[in-house]
This record gives sequence, C-alpha cells and structure tokens, in this order.
Amino acid sequence: MNYQVFETYAEMSKAAAKIIADEIRAKPDCVLGLATGSSPIGTYDELARMHREEGLSFARCTTVNLDEYRGLAGTHPQSYRYFMNEHLFSRVDMRLDHTFVPNGTAPDPAAECAAYDARLESLGGSDIQLLGIGPDGHIGFNEPADVFTKATHLVDLAPSTIEANARFFDSAADVPRQALTMGMGGIMGAKKILLVASGAAKKAVLDAAMTGPITPRLPASLLQLHKDVTVLYST
Ligand code: F6R
Repeated sequence: MNYQVFETYAEMSKAAAKIIADEIRAKPDCVLGLATGSSPIGTYDELARMHREEGLSFARCTTVNLDEYRGLAGTHPQSYRYFMNEHLFSRVDMRLDHTFVPNGTAPDPAAECAAYDARLESLGGSDIQLLGIGPDGHIGFNEPADVFTKATHLVDLAPSTIEANARFFDSAADVPRQALTMGMGGIMGAKKILLVASGAAKKAVLDAAMTGPITPRLPASLLQLHKDVTVLYST
C-alpha cells in the first residue's frame, strides 16, 4: 500500500487528480470508478481545471459510481447522480451516456444491482477506483457487517453513516435509510485503487484499515489484499 500524507486538502486533491489524469492520458478509453461525498470534491475541481486549462479530455472515458441512495431520483439535489453531474460531468467533456450511477428509484433494486454488476463486468471492471472512507470504515456503502458482500446490493445504512451524512440534508430524518452500493467484489476488481481522506477524525479509522486485522467489521481493511492501493491523507 502506497501511503502519502499532505499538509493541506488542496495538495492532496491535486495529487489525486494527477493520478487519475495520468490514467486517462495513458488510456483515454479507461473506466473510472468514482465516489461522492466531501472527500473527492477537490479532486473533481482539479480535474475540471485540468480539462479547462490543459485539455484533459474525458470524451472516451466511462465512469461507474459506487453508490446511490435508495428512493432518490437523479434530479434530487442530494442524490449521487446529481452530485456527479454538478461536481464533474457538467464541467468536462464527459458523455453522459457513458456515466453510470445505480438507479435509486429502480422498482426492483435486486434487478438493478444485478444489472449494475453485469455492466461492470462487461466493461472489464474499473481501471482505477476512487474511494473515500466512512467514519465506521465503510467504502462505497459497504457497512460493517459479519461478512463481506461481493455483489452490488441494497444496504441499510449504519446510524453513524446517517448521522455523518445528515450535514447534506435538512436533518438526519431526511437522510435515506438505504442505499444501493457496489459490493466489495466490484471495488476489489478495480485494477488500481485510490483512497482520499482528510481530517483528524478519519486518521484512526484509516490507520486501523491499513494496518489492523482484515475484518468485515471494518470493510476498508479488505483493501490490504489489493495489489495496487494508493492512500492519500491530508491533516
Ligand atoms: C460515497 C461513498 C462513501 C464516502 C464516505 C466518506 O460515494 O461511497 O463511502 O466515500 O462516506 O464520505 P466523506 O468523503 O463525505 O467523508
């Protein structure tokens, strides 16, 4: 595991964007596994700048996002589809029909999850998967559990996740209780993994994930078994 520490969130975000941009330049038709939340916002800002000022092109890329809240349509401002359109897709030359986020309003979530995995498999998995980490060690919305779940699945969000994400909603009561998330198989199937985290509150869970026992009680700990993981942390 390649672990790098930065003084500031801006420096960390620039470094993360450079890793993704290098991937795109080396393989213009690459598959980018993307994340939402506050951690990657600076990375997306920097990628948008690189598009504007340096001609970095996303025109041949495909993106596959980690997760979506159950019950939120892509037009809902707190949906992850909306987030991606706002923070990245509308700011670069990405083809929207090459961007995939689970459909939170699919009438049959199990069928939606199976179709999502089939798509990921048909794409050959992600070339690089961008991740954040939750306060409980979740990646995607793979919450602490008795077992690791391989496939994309519908998950009940942990109380700590609902509380942590309440900052994006009017109140904790408004945070959806479930989400559709890529499973550990889809994440671990990426050729490279890039995890970004910032702030003192993330340090202990990050250290435990990187060096502690590998356990589904701390889902990010499974990343220890991946052969190409870069973790960028800023204080
Ligand atoms: C988001 C996601 C989550 C977040 C995690 C950290 O797509 O999959 O695992 O990465 O909850 O969120 P932030 O960055 O907001 O602390």
